[in-house]
Order: sequence, then structure tokens, then C-alpha cells
Amino acid sequence: MMSFGVTKNICGRSSKQAVRLGHAAGLSLYQPYIIGVACPATVRVATISHHLAAPRQRPFVASTRTFSTTTAHQLRDVFPPKDTPFVRKTPPAWKHPGYTEEELLSVTPGHRPPQTVGDWIAWKLVRLARWATDLATGIGREQQVDMKNPTTSVVAAKPLTEAQWLIRLIFLESIAGVPGMVAGMLRHLHSLRRLKRDNGWIETLLEESYNERMHLLTLMTISEPGWFMKTMILGAQGVFFNAMFLSYLVSPRITHRFVGYLEEEAVHTYTRLIREIEQGDLPKWSDPGFEVPEIAVTYWRLPEGKRTMRDLFLYIRADEAVHRGVNHTLSNLKQKEDPNPFVSEYKVGQEGHKPNAALKPEGYEREEVIGVEPPSAPSAPSAPSPKAYLHA
Ligand SMILES: [Fe+2]
Ligand SMILES: [Fe+2]
Repeated sequence: MMSFGVTKNICGRSSKQAVRLGHAAGLSLYQPYIIGVACPATVRVATISHHLAAPRQRPFVASTRTFSTTTAHQLRDVFPPKDTPFVRKTPPAWKHPGYTEEELLSVTPGHRPPQTVGDWIAWKLVRLARWATDLATGIGREQQVDMKNPTTSVVAAKPLTEAQWLIRLIFLESIAGVPGMVAGMLRHLHSLRRLKRDNGWIETLLEESYNERMHLLTLMTISEPGWFMKTMILGAQGVFFNAMFLSYLVSPRITHRFVGYLEEEAVHTYTRLIREIEQGDLPKWSDPGFEVPEIAVTYWRLPEGKRTMRDLFLYIRADEAVHRGVNHTLSNLKQKEDPNPFVSEYKVGQEGHKPNAALKPEGYEREEVIGVEPPSAPSAPSAPSPKAYLHA
């Protein structure tokens, strides 16, 4: 794929590779900086420092096209909302519930050991997807986490650069918004055509996809992908949407498990990112002066003084932890008849069974959140029908 080998030593190999990496992260505007300034420094220094220096007023820099068809004047910091004569603003349709500081910090990487063949298939598919993503986004061997301990490892010998992180996160978040929408859509259609209740699943699934899209939009305000990455996103969505569609029709249970494992990886990834920021491996993002985009402040209602990149990724990680717990739990339920425990009100005295998805990486078992129905009493033997007598 496009960024093979870029991570080893960008300037040592060739400035063309630096350009390629920059474009993959949507940094075509900075191409002259990448070529002329970055060497022997790394791409992140040249590109991100410019963003830091002038987040709202980037000078126009003529760029020659190599891997990007995105011209400089098309690059913007934000997607400006359309100004209309009457509308003042359009707030988020799904208000984010918010997290306490304690909740943000209590999120930990976790893993649900596969218990069925379906679980095992889902788990292996996710691991395969992770391997392919590492390959596609040019993550070098020394930058990969310990592959022998895939359920716990969040540390690599060498950190990623800001540009590499942006490539990876934008690609992954564009994919992550698909499953919730597919599942919600299919359950919606099922309810319509079978004339049956859905029991509260659709809203949670659609909200999940909305939340993932907000992750993507937030990252997009930091870097707009070049045409190559946009093409990758287009192709990946085509494949992934159809795969999710068929998979959910065949086995919603396995599909929710697959998403649960995908979200485990997301929590791992963001935990690693937060760690690298805290260690100062990403100097520009570690800088408390690097404020997060306005769209993030509005959506998560980030309080004053809590608007650093570390804070932003703590919120996103907590969201991923919720998706992880929700999908593992939904996979454990009876798909057609159980209510969604995350939006349900519980009977008096049973409130303790209401789940908190972020707290349980492996999800809740059905017995914990729905309860065990008492075995139905054996019905009294009915009198044999006249027909039965005939055959007796
Ligand atoms: Fe996400
Ligand atoms: Fe997620």
C-alpha cells in the first residue's frame, strides 16, 4: 500500500516518502515544509508545528501535486456550518452523556476470551483486520505492539508520529461508523416488515454510529486526507458495509461480537496514544497550548482547562469502551426478544442490574442484565383429540 517503509527513516530514505506520508495524512498544504524543513527532522515536526503556530490562519502555499489532488485552497481547519438567514446553530442530535474524570481514567484495555466458535471467528477476523491496517498505514515492525500478547499489549518499542496517528485514526473512524448504522437499519426494517417491536436496540446502535462519526469529524478538522486516503476510505466503506450487511442478516450475534472485539482494539489503540502523549513522544500534542477543535468542545462539552489533545483522546477512548461493552453485551442477548438493557428502566429493587458498559470490557451476560426466567410450569395433559383416538 502507499506508505510501506515510510516509518523507518523518512528523510534518510527520500523526501518523496515524506511527501507521501504527508499526503496520506491530508497534509498536502505543507508539502514544501515536509521537503524543505522536515529533514533531518521527521514529518510530524514540520507539519504539525505549522498547525500549532497558526491554527486558524494558514498561509497559502503553492503545492505541486504528487499523491494528492486536494489543492491548498480547499484545505480548511473546519467544516464551517452553513450560514442561513434564520438558523443560528444546529446542536448535536444526540447529546453526549458526558463522563466524570473518574470514569475517563478508569477505562482499561480488556478482552473477552472467545467462548464459542462464532466468537473465535469474530476474534480472528479482527486480528486479521488489525494486521492489514498496520500494513496499510505503514506501521513498522518496531512500532507494532507485542503481537504475542494481543489482548493486553499497548506498548511498542517505537512510537508513531502525529502524522501516522492521523492516518490510522481517520481511516479507522471512517470504518467504525458503519456497523451501528447497518445494524440499526436492519433492525428498523425488520420491525417494519414483521410488525414487531424492536425493544430499544435501534436507538443505541444509531447513536453509536453517530458517535463514531463525531470522532471522525473531530480528527478531520486537524487533517484532511489527500485523494489516496479518500479513495481508500471509499473502497473500504464499500466492502465493509456490504460485509456487515450480510453478516448481520446471517448472524447478528456474531456481528455484535465482532464489533465488540473491534472496539477492544480501539480502546487498546487510544490507550497507547494517550500513553505516548503523556510520555512526550508526540511533542506537539503534548503541548497544553494545542487546543482541540471547536467541534469537539461543543460535542463533548469539554470544560475549560480540559481541552488538550490528551483530554480529547480520553473522551474518545471512553466512548470506545462503551461501544465495547454494549456490543459484547448485545451479542449475549436473545436478539429478537430481549430488551436493550442500556436504555431500559429496571423494576424496583432490581436497579443494580442496570449495566454500565464502560465498566465491563467483556460485556454482561444475559443472566446479569435480563434475569433468568423461571421455568414454565408443565402444562396439564390435555384430553386426546378425537383424531388422536382415531390413530391410537
Ligand atoms: Fe471511534
Ligand atoms: Fe467505537
